[in-house]
Amino acid sequence: MSQSQFHNNTLCWLNGEQCLPANATISIFDHGVLYGDGVFEGIRFYNHQPFLLNQHLARLQRSAHHIELDIPFSNEKLTETINTLCLQAEFAAGYIRLVITRGKGGLGMNPKNCHEANTFIIVAELEMMPPEASNAGISTIIAKTQRISSRALDSRTKSLNYLNNILAKQEANAANADEAILLNSQGNVAEASAENLFIVKDDCLITPPCQDGALEGITRGTLLFLADKMGIPTEIRSIPAASLLTADEVFLCGTGARIVPVRCIDEIETANCPGPIFNQLNLSYSHFVEEQTLSK
Ligand SMILES: Cc1ncc(COP(=O)(O)O)c(C=O)c1O
Repeated sequence: MSQSQFHNNTLCWLNGEQCLPANATISIFDHGVLYGDGVFEGIRFYNHQPFLLNQHLARLQRSAHHIELDIPFSNEKLTETINTLCLQAEFAAGYIRLVITRGKGGLGMNPKNCHEANTFIIVAELEMMPPEASNAGISTIIAKTQRISSRALDSRTKSLNYLNNILAKQEANAANADEAILLNSQGNVAEASAENLFIVKDDCLITPPCQDGALEGITRGTLLFLADKMGIPTEIRSIPAASLLTADEVFLCGTGARIVPVRCIDEIETANCPGPIFNQLNLSYSHFVEEQTLSK
């Protein structure tokens, strides 16, 4: 997989002001840095327009509410700021990272000692998957690192705590694979390190429920919606690890990765890569992105 890269035309905004990347700094006493105490969103933009921004802001609000973090800016202000940054970007399409940290506090982790959250936005060009991935597929492993139980940390909350995912990603790196699939304590599939997972079995599109450790992914939701419109049956249900190997198709999806078919799991080839349902959904997703981000 190619390295993710930030280019020097990256735009930054911190606590209400646009600034140069070199000046976009926060305190080392910020609990986002010290404890991963904060929430974030990764958003795509196309044609200088954010894609599904309202859904991302709604999820950000839910995540912040879950950890009792007050977002210092209204959704209207964040929308206006993101729209302005996307218009300013030198590149028509790219990636937006919106982060709210707990802010500066004492060395103890008690969040009650943090009085002012930090909010920042980064707008950059970013390549998460190699362009050939949507035809050639990617290689995956099933990680030994178990997905944190959603009863320990609700997997619908998109927090700054990604160590669980990072450990799984390191396993993929060590195995020379592109991605890692995480299982929960019951041995059911949760998701990949930064993507949701779908299988196709007997023409039905299946993805795990959030209780199994999956983020309530916006791409996942969009694919379920598009599949419904296309008359493809869908199910949200647990996927035992063994079902990955007997599936007709396996693919991952997320804002960064978009949709990528899985070519192999632990060096065992999947049945179809890319499979026919992946191809239909991939096309329909591209049309949906175009529709949503047409010039206004
Ligand atoms: C752990 C995890 N799962 C799934 C996803 C996919 O979610 P979305 O489609 O909302 O980007 C992401 C990426 O945001 C993620 O970090």
